Formats: sequence, C-alpha cells, structure tokens
Amino acid sequence: MRVVMVGAGYAGLVSGACFAEFGADVTCVDVDRGRIDRLRAGEVPIYEPGLDDLVRRNAESGRLRFAAGPGSEVGAADLVFIAVGTPARRGDGHADLRHVYRAAELIAPHLQGYTVIVTKSTVPVGTAREVRRRLHAARPDADFDVASNPEFLREGSAIEDFLRPDRIVLGVESARAEASLRELYRPLNLIETPILATGIESAELTKYACNAFLATKISFINEIAALCEATGADVHAVARGMGLDGRIGRKFLHPGPGYGGSCFPKDIAALARIAAEREVPARIVEATIAVNSAQRGRMCEKIRAALGGDVADKRIGVLGLTFKPETDDMREAPSLHVLPVLIDEGAEVRAHDPQGMDEAAACLPDSIRFCSDPYEVAETADAVVLMTEWNAYRGLDLERIRDSMRGRVFVDLRNVYEPGAMRSLGFRYCGVGR
Ligand code: UGA
Repeated sequence: MRVVMVGAGYAGLVSGACFAEFGADVTCVDVDRGRIDRLRAGEVPIYEPGLDDLVRRNAESGRLRFAAGPGSEVGAADLVFIAVGTPARRGDGHADLRHVYRAAELIAPHLQGYTVIVTKSTVPVGTAREVRRRLHAARPDADFDVASNPEFLREGSAIEDFLRPDRIVLGVESARAEASLRELYRPLNLIETPILATGIESAELTKYACNAFLATKISFINEIAALCEATGADVHAVARGMGLDGRIGRKFLHPGPGYGGSCFPKDIAALARIAAEREVPARIVEATIAVNSAQRGRMCEKIRAALGGDVADKRIGVLGLTFKPETDDMREAPSLHVLPVLIDEGAEVRAHDPQGMDEAAACLPDSIRFCSDPYEVAETADAVVLMTEWNAYRGLDLERIRDSMRGRVFVDLRNVYEPGAMRSLGFRYCGVGR
C-alpha cells in the first residue's frame, strides 16, 4: 500500500516508520524543509528509544522516504494521513486546527484516483467532516473518503505501542475506506489486535475520552495520596488493593507531581471546551484539571515543609526535569511549575536530567546550575528532590549521596525508594501519600 504521512513530527515520524515496518511504501512529508533535509541525511530530530534504528532500517530498504510537501506523491497514495500538530490555542484551550486545514488545502490539488484521507492528529469531534467539506470544495471532482484513526502511543514506548497496540480504532464512513485501512493494519491480525470500526465522530471522541479517563485516574490517586498523608495510610497499599479489582485495573494509579506532557494537559482542556461549546456539563473533566494544577502547589508545599517551612538560602538538588522518563520532552513538565517557585522563594537550585537538559535550559530560570551527574547534584545540598523516575535514579549509591550532602532531606516525588530503608540510611525522607 502507498501511504503519505503529512507531518514528520513526533506522531507522523513514529507512525510513518512503523507503517513502513508493516511493509507499506511510505513517504513522510513536511513543510519544514530543514527537518526533511535532516531526515534524509539520516538524522532523527526527536528522542524516542528505537526510532533512529527503525527509521534508518526502513529508509535503507527503500520503504520509507522523506519529501518537502505535500506534493505530487499524494497522487499515487492509497491513504494520506494528517499527523500535524494541534497545540492548545493560546487563551481558550481550543485545539488549534490551522495546521490540519492547511494540510488539507495542500493535499487537495494533488488527489488522483480513490484516496482515503485520515486524521491521525488528536482533533475535536467534527474535524474530519470539516476536512472533507474543505477537500470537496477545493476538488469537487476528486474520489475520496475521510476517516479518523486516533493514535494511542506513549512517548518513550511509542514503537512498542504502535507495533503491539491494545486496539486500533477506525472512524469510517464507507466500507471502501474501512477495507483500505484494514488492509494497512493487516500485519496486526497475526497478534490478534482488535480492530474496531466506528463512525467518525465516535473515533474522534474515543481519543479524548481515553486521555481524560487516564488523567482522571491520576488525579484521583493524587487526591487519595493526600488523604493517605492525613490519615497515616500508604497510597501504594491502597492503589494495589484497588487495582487488583479487574474493573478498576492497576495501571495509572501511581501518585506523583501530577500529569504533564504534550497530550494530557492539552487534550483534557480541549475536551472541556468541546463539552462547554455544546453546553454539556463536564464536571469530572474540570475537577481532573483543577486537582492536577493544585498538585504542583502541593509538591512545593511538601518541599518547603521538608526543609522546615522555608526554602530561602537552601540548596536544592533536583533529579529529573522532563515530564516523564525516556523522553527529552519538557512540555508541561511538573519541574516547570515547581522549580521557579522554589527559586522565587530564595532557593539555590541544581539539576540533572539524562536527556532533557538542553530543552530544560531553554525554558527554566537561568540561575539553575545544570550538573553532569546525580552525584554532583547532591554535593553540599540541603535537600535532594527526585522529580522524574528515570532508571538512572533507581539504583543510586545512596550512601555516597548522603555523605556528600550538607543536609539529610530526600523528597521523592515519584515514590521510587522505600521510606523505611531511606530512614535507616539516615535520610529525612518524604514521599507522596505514604
Ligand atoms: C499519553 C497516553 O498515555 C497515550 O495513550 C496517548 O496516545 C498520548 O498521551 C497522546 O495523546 O498522544 P504520554 O503523554 O506519552 O501518553 O505519557 P503517559 O505515559 O501517559 O504519561 C502522562 C503523564 O502522566 C506523565 O506526566 C506521567 O508522569 C503521569 N502519570 C502516568 C502519573 O502521574 N501516574 C501514572 O500512574 C501514570
């Protein structure tokens, strides 16, 4: 099958390389010529484990190509995916659809023969139909269907998620479009992946509902964690007791500094807007957002309290800056909210992150000193704060950390370490909800 992927950003590149791995003939196009030149030279502009390798292998085999566009390659395609960014619009939380509609405009003149145009970007309900309206207005003669095929992959494990998904959701309006998409995903029949065909609006809403539900689980457990701190319960025991109930499930019940990243905050705000526009109450969604932003403040309060109520003139070493491990992504990372508050209150902050320091330096206060390893972070610190649970921080030489600090406070915002063991090592340890 011939596939054109419009947008060679995160979703487009991962999806394009994985479709090529399935055996399709894929061209990834982007209006950013510099990005295309870098990709053609074999340079993958984002950090995602395994992606370099996958791109190189499929490019070498000739199944994956890159071009500035969209242009003439659209004419030969069976399927054209729109995988451009849909950032939150400044001010109102709406998904900004300019890039999606611009992609449709650029695709239209090149359509030839029957083509399925598929939105892969996360877009509000009704967007695929609006894409169809615009394409039809530009090319009333063209033979095409639109479809929605939302993506559920996670940063850091995107390739595995794509190649071994829990399910595929296809929002389609014709049997012909469904057949074309099923053919593309045929290699997944081998591992018996459920492929669900629905209406277009249902597929679009499924994506938002999934992200909102997962975010709600996180906000819920963070609220329970606060209650555990007030009652002497241990949130991990509670989460395990809950999660073993098959109706609830164990995943996404890990407490912490709140969810971040390029998806949850943006998509949940967009879902709240979609509901507000239709005058449908979305109280749970709104509470999820409110609990998450309050969680940032609670983390600052936790650090303050651990240091005796005040961080002024305290030296704080921070381990991890990205919104989660295995990514260099700093978007909506809890560190962006917590660190400036500590610095404003007079703390001296040092930090380390295995992949995110370049990104972090661009968006955090200049006064932060970036260190080359976790031990340098801890040297003469009054407190160490574990902000992101990178594997590199799971097996630290804790005695070395303790002996090089000038204080003994260890604030573990991801509950990586066991409170009892940390206390017997001599730390004044504080986690979340235990
Ligand atoms: C999320 C979804 O998990 C994907 O299914 C979806 O495709 C993606 O958004 C998207 O819409 O593109 P991602 O943002 O990469 O993926 O990251 P997650 O692993 O879901 O983590 C999101 C945030 O929740 C992180 O800040 C993480 O630290 C936090 N989290 C996650 C918790 O605080 N507790 C948990 O138990 C799980």
